[in-house]
Amino acid sequence: MNIHVITIDGPSGSGKGTLATKIAQYYHYHLLDSGALYRLLGLSLEKRKLLEVLQDNLTECVEIARNLQIEFVATEQGIRVLLDHEDVSQVIRTEEVGAFASRVAVVPELRDALLQRQRDFAQLPGLIADGRDMGTVVFPEAQAKIYLTASAESRAERRVKQLQSMGEDAKIDDILANIQARDKRDMERKVAPLKPAVDALVIDSSLLTIDEVFTQMVNYIDVQLAKAF
Ligand code: DC
Repeated sequence: MNIHVITIDGPSGSGKGTLATKIAQYYHYHLLDSGALYRLLGLSLEKRKLLEVLQDNLTECVEIARNLQIEFVATEQGIRVLLDHEDVSQVIRTEEVGAFASRVAVVPELRDALLQRQRDFAQLPGLIADGRDMGTVVFPEAQAKIYLTASAESRAERRVKQLQSMGEDAKIDDILANIQARDKRDMERKVAPLKPAVDALVIDSSLLTIDEVFTQMVNYIDVQLAKAF
């Protein structure tokens, strides 16, 4: 039986994570948060003092990427993320670990090391894959591909609210500058740059509510899945 894969790519703060979770619940599919894998690898390399000296220790870092001890555990409070059996769900969502992830993400050897791990998430009945290169590199044969974007300003506003709710102090100008810098790095990097797949549905969520985006996505996915049968 064909395993259905639905990819949702886009920049950070576009609402991808929230929407991917809702869509996975709606279809009862598995969920791959590929950004979390990059964050976990960044955190793991930083803990081992390897992030600063990545290029000089590439073989060791690739081994670490291949053997990362991670678990995603569904609980009533949401998905808990464990690294080496330690709960790092909160720490991987910080700006600091986001910056670690973004440094890992530009290294082709590390992206390659994570490739098979990501593909292993494609299990019956289906998978929602959330990331930057899900539709272009990791799952080019996906039945439905969505590219969710939003203006940098509206993403910065959402991020400030999210950080404040986590008790972190956040200034809109700093966050906006961070988002713009990360977009540039993600879009201009040589390997797997952030861009819509040619066959992706592009949705701009700047002026839409989550429910409106959700409805557009489900309408599109239903059509694509009907074609796949
Ligand atoms: O979506 P996120 O903010 O958790 O992603 C963290 C970093 O990892 C971000 O800099 C982009 C990178 N990333 C990537 O290069 N490819 C992916 N499929 C997912 C994330």
